[in-house]
Amino acid sequence: MRPQITFSEDLCIKCGQCAANCPTHHISMEEDGPVSHHNRRCLQCMHCAAVCPRKAIHFEHVPAYAEYPETPEDETLKLIMTRRSVRHFKPDAPEADDITWALDMAQWAPSGKNRHLTQWLVVHSKEKCDAVYNYVCDVTAETGVMPALAQQRAKGNHDSVTCGCSTIIMALAPDEGSALTPESGETDAVIAMATAELLLNKIGLGTCWGGYLTFFSNQLPQLREYLKIPAGYHIAGTLLCGIPDEVYHNIPYRPNATVHWL
Ligand SMILES: Cc1cc2nc3c(=O)[nH]c(=O)nc-3n(C[C@H](O)[C@H](O)[C@H](O)COP(=O)(O)O)c2cc1C
Repeated sequence: MRPQITFSEDLCIKCGQCAANCPTHHISMEEDGPVSHHNRRCLQCMHCAAVCPRKAIHFEHVPAYAEYPETPEDETLKLIMTRRSVRHFKPDAPEADDITWALDMAQWAPSGKNRHLTQWLVVHSKEKCDAVYNYVCDVTAETGVMPALAQQRAKGNHDSVTCGCSTIIMALAPDEGSALTPESGETDAVIAMATAELLLNKIGLGTCWGGYLTFFSNQLPQLREYLKIPAGYHIAGTLLCGIPDEVYHNIPYRPNATVHWL
């Protein structure tokens, strides 16, 4: 679905942040200001509305900014509500100790049988993350799995696979059927990853889940080998991480939860 996005001409200062933060190039910055292209995909991530310093962007079917939440005082709520999927990172990688701290803390995340079998794979430096991105583009083009990635790279478009991050964190779960496997191995790994994500955000790092990278790493044996994923494990989730290079001024609107009470 491609929503109608409109820009208030009287508010827009043509800073270009909305276009720069649009992961699918649905919005471009033209001479007269931002333009929404209805022939291009929109993830409806609402990052354009969140990043806009003048609250000048309006989504069809989404209430006006007046109904967007204020930043809460409570630190826990603030952490949860101000987290955004960061897709622009500074080149310097976070300190290894900070990553290790978050992963160590995630050992306290809920787990099915308190066995904590999740392992972690960390690609640590922008150079190495870029190499992973290039390898994914090359392999997905050679195998015909997703030639569009290499085509996007050739055009210099946004990299949706690693988002130019400086650290890739992968949660490894034991394969079903291996001797190590508790029934909850996959779920445990995802809970641990979500816990680590909040902790990384708490110390000022930016994160974005890397669904593409998870999918390709599990599907393509070449990539599995490249990443040296240990035998008996698969990737339950990937976090693209780094020092954020974007600032969100607004918390996007979210509808209340749909709850079926019994
Ligand atoms: C499981 C999962 C996989 C995702 N995979 C990608 C991805 O491969 N590339 C990307 O740019 N964003 C990815 N995202 C980020 C979502 O697109 C993002 O959550 C959405 O844009 C909403 O933005 P928010 O997290 O800032 O609220 C993923 C998110 C999740 C939860």
